[in-house]
Amino acid sequence: MSKTIIVSNRLPVKITEQDGQLSFKTSEGGLATGLGSVFQADAESLWIGWPGMEVPDEQEKNVTAQLNEQSLIPVYLSKEEITQYYEGFSNEVLWPVFHYMSTYARYENIYWDYYQQVNEKFKNALIAVAQPGDTIWIHDYQLLLLPGLIRAVLPEVTIGFFQHIPFPSYELFRLLPWRAELLNGMLGADLVGFHTYDDARHFLSSAARILQVQTASNNIQYNGRSIVVESFPMGIDNAKFEALIDNTQVKQNILNLRETFGNVHIILSIDRLDYSKGILQRLQAFDLFMQDHPEYKEKVSLYMIVVPSRDTVTQYRELRDEIDKLAGNINARYRTNNWSPVNYFYRSFPIENLSALFQFADVCLVTPMRDGMNLVCKEYVASRKNNDGVLILSEMAGASKELTDALIVNPNNVLQMSQAIVAALNMPLEEQTRRMKQMRELVSKYNVMHWVRVFIERLGEVKRMQQSLLTK
Ligand code: G6P
Repeated sequence: MSKTIIVSNRLPVKITEQDGQLSFKTSEGGLATGLGSVFQADAESLWIGWPGMEVPDEQEKNVTAQLNEQSLIPVYLSKEEITQYYEGFSNEVLWPVFHYMSTYARYENIYWDYYQQVNEKFKNALIAVAQPGDTIWIHDYQLLLLPGLIRAVLPEVTIGFFQHIPFPSYELFRLLPWRAELLNGMLGADLVGFHTYDDARHFLSSAARILQVQTASNNIQYNGRSIVVESFPMGIDNAKFEALIDNTQVKQNILNLRETFGNVHIILSIDRLDYSKGILQRLQAFDLFMQDHPEYKEKVSLYMIVVPSRDTVTQYRELRDEIDKLAGNINARYRTNNWSPVNYFYRSFPIENLSALFQFADVCLVTPMRDGMNLVCKEYVASRKNNDGVLILSEMAGASKELTDALIVNPNNVLQMSQAIVAALNMPLEEQTRRMKQMRELVSKYNVMHWVRVFIERLGEVKRMQQSLLTK
């Protein structure tokens, strides 16, 4: 019987350690929920990935058994592999270059050695369970070589690859010393998917120029195979955010927020700590807004959550310090005894708190310098059951191609962002409703289940098309 195998750097569950005891935490990410639907539909399906921390050798057997019960197959990474493959090649080479921040990239050969080694490790875990008739769906930039490695061993197998971060223009991609090898790896797939048409276009152009392959429309001819490249904008688990609106804890959290903030309007900002998210520029825009509009003193506050991430990578640590400094500086200059302009939290929050904030905030400020899609803005929209509230969204986020009723800004233009804040705070309710309604319809219709369905269906079609070409 054929089955579906999902592969991603991280498993949908995370192992955490407290006082030497390991415990499992279900990931709340949209990907885990969306792909969960593939799992339910197919009892045989499997998910391969890293459990998120270094597991001591003596505990591996026990952890594996527990994960296997949930159809999850762990790929354990050593300390060295975490440093060189995950922090190194994935997050100090690919992440900055793909997010147009190539000056942050460190092209270390040792990173590349480990990247190849760990992709091999994933391949071995995969071929131990895969059959030629299976469908394999590989996710994201940590595993760019994997489609090619699998294709070499299982030439007939169906492979889909989806990249969740941007694919940069050829002029950026060509900077990578290992550009041809990376493309060769990705082209092991039958279907290569991105969030936006522009990402797909950049990928096609890089393949044509670097590998000198033939491309026609969204098709690449490579090593006698025909590969399809398309965009599949990812959605969120809309139903989950709708359901949270009626959750008792969420309702209580909203009451608490109301009590704390009274009539002060809240501008919400939620991100993982990352230089691609434009957090500093957003703070600068808020600073300018405070400076140019003293009439909003004690009337508006920025509620800014930064979720800790990759803080073993130097750039992330430095960014955290700079955010601390700027947020503190703004507060020191504008605060009064009863009011802080910036409420800054460096930690993660339970979903019940996030839902309450999404419902409570008059404005949501999502202004990444680059983002493959960005799901926070969709979560805000899904939480606005009264169809009010204003989304300010960066044109550099993939989501801006869909949420065209947001106030779209260039995140490098601090003045424009501060003006957008004023426009959002003054937008008539009628206009808020008109815009929010449109966005809510889109977010609800093109949810994560839809995304999974469309990708898997297309992958099946592509495979059938390839087979019919072969038998002709
Ligand atoms: C982005 C990437 C994912 C990654 C996530 C969290 O969304 O596309 O592949 O899992 O960030 O980053 P982390 O490094 O903690 O896995």
